[in-house]
Amino acid sequence: MCGIVGAVAQRDVVDILVEGLRRLEYRGYDSAGVAVVTEAGELTRLRRLGKVKELSDAVAAQPVAGGTGIAHTRWATHGEPSERNAHPHVSSNITVVHNGIIENHSPLRDALKAKGYVFTSDTDTEVIAHLVEEELKAAGSLLAAVQKTVKQLHGAYGTVLMDKTDSSRVVVARSGSPLVIGLGIGENFIASDQLALLPVTRRFMFLEEGDVAEITRHSVSIFDKDGNAIEREVHESNVSYDAGDKGQYRHFMLKEIYEQPHAINNTLEGRLSADSVLDETFGNGAAELFKKVKHVQIVACGTSYHSGMVARYWLESLGGISCNVEIASEFRYRKSFVQPNSLLVSISQSGETADTLAALRLAKEAGYLGSLTICNVAGSSLVRESDLAFMTRAGAEIGVASTKAFTTQLVGLAMLTMAIGKYNGLTAVQQRELTDALKSLPAKLEQTLALAPQIEALAEEFADKHHSLFLGRGDQYPIAMEGALKLKEISYIHAEAYAAGELKHGPLALIDAEMPIIVVAPNNELLEKLQSNVEEVRARGGILYVFADADAKFQSDDTMRVINVPHVADILAPIVYTLPLQLLSYYVAIIKGTDVDQPRNLAKSVTVE
Ligand code: AGP
Ligand code: GLU
Repeated sequence: MCGIVGAVAQRDVVDILVEGLRRLEYRGYDSAGVAVVTEAGELTRLRRLGKVKELSDAVAAQPVAGGTGIAHTRWATHGEPSERNAHPHVSSNITVVHNGIIENHSPLRDALKAKGYVFTSDTDTEVIAHLVEEELKAAGSLLAAVQKTVKQLHGAYGTVLMDKTDSSRVVVARSGSPLVIGLGIGENFIASDQLALLPVTRRFMFLEEGDVAEITRHSVSIFDKDGNAIEREVHESNVSYDAGDKGQYRHFMLKEIYEQPHAINNTLEGRLSADSVLDETFGNGAAELFKKVKHVQIVACGTSYHSGMVARYWLESLGGISCNVEIASEFRYRKSFVQPNSLLVSISQSGETADTLAALRLAKEAGYLGSLTICNVAGSSLVRESDLAFMTRAGAEIGVASTKAFTTQLVGLAMLTMAIGKYNGLTAVQQRELTDALKSLPAKLEQTLALAPQIEALAEEFADKHHSLFLGRGDQYPIAMEGALKLKEISYIHAEAYAAGELKHGPLALIDAEMPIIVVAPNNELLEKLQSNVEEVRARGGILYVFADADAKFQSDDTMRVINVPHVADILAPIVYTLPLQLLSYYVAIIKGTDVDQPRNLAKSVTVE
């Protein structure tokens, strides 16, 4: 599930490959490797445990050259992080890199061993190299051998193979882990993410599920899962070079709001099969641990705490276990009771938040079954100190106000719910429905971002206000909390979130035309209750801004502005309804003239208490 870069060229491609890996570092990995082959059939392979820098130092220390090559950053699922388990893997003439999980690697390994193949790693990936070597004996071409091989693989893979006896081509196959072909002049490339190839091309073909392609310097031949030759459209990429570049956006925060569909594609990449989440998504040994888990204790701060609050609804209703969520600065100073069979889950964009880190360290001495962190920064303290880590792969988040990190955290937590739920009554039908829903999410977010002009128009009505109230019910209550945090931290308008059912227990006294009331109202089983709360506010002269499912039939009038949000499955609603609130806070802050990306008094990572 990590990073792939490949090339077929006349020039030496080693530096292109290593630079490509460097641009994929944000995804989180434990080791890296590169292999190149010359026209004379000389193969050179270098692999290193640790950072891409270790690999580039090794490349600099010895002559490594070749016009055809493949490179990989690995996030271990089968076989510990080590140099011997790092990709590329080799079987005689065949070299392979692979993103994903080969679920049936064990029987394939046994069969290949029985044929005399010698394995030099503990990875699932190595079976691909030996299988292709075996199939090549009868297939007559690398392409045909790969087409025969992938029909035997179960699981998720994006894989690139080369044959050292023929440096004129590489063959690639995609099922569950994306691959993109980069088109050059007299050279062509392959990668798991276009970001890796932006220094050498902006013309890309995105492979589809089941595609197999043969790539030479001057040609790209693509075949569908049935072996039919097909064409894939060529796209001109406008993706900005790297996180440090705002591209056409006025602020990093706006860029990162619009990156969310792409970021979530990355989060999902190689982690879902056709009908469920892959066990190894949460790392080596996760499945064994999850079978025992009966309680989850979540600790986090700020926006990350809000994603944990949403997860509690999911873990209890779908995951079939109990869950408690606590602000890390409270948890760390409280003598808490550790429920039996508890998993400690920390959530953090930076992986360096002092309170969250302290909470993890305390929990590790308190008898938890284990610890998992949902984090966006590879190599951060939380990732290094937790037993398991799920990388959100949102890409570097520059804006202090967290946006794409939050929604990718929610996607990770939805997958965690599925991974634990499968051992606690979540049915195969429910898993399939959740899988399909998550796969539809990027498109739903693109539709939601189209609401931006309507939301920008609303923002004018907030500019002279000093207080606001955000209301939500159920798993939308934490989204109301997140919306309130976004507004206050970048526009400096006081904003408070309340569970809508609590209105009559006090906040109703605050209602007047000077305090906008923002309501998130998806079309779920709490909608009727929420509609009553809306009427309570209207009856007292409140001005409402309702983000609702079109089916909820809220009508705009002089005291209520309604923005209709695309209809989504319940599990997606908290994620989708976050985007309008992010946009609202952004446009209000623009009108207020604040420093959107660096709001006063705030830091991106709070590494002190
Ligand atoms: C969110 O917009 C804020 N920047 C802040 O609340 C942040 O979420 C909090 O400091 C936690 O940071 P972390 O996710 O890096 O642990
Ligand atoms: N499952 C393969 C391995 O453990 C690939 C992991 C990845 O996608 O990085 O080596």
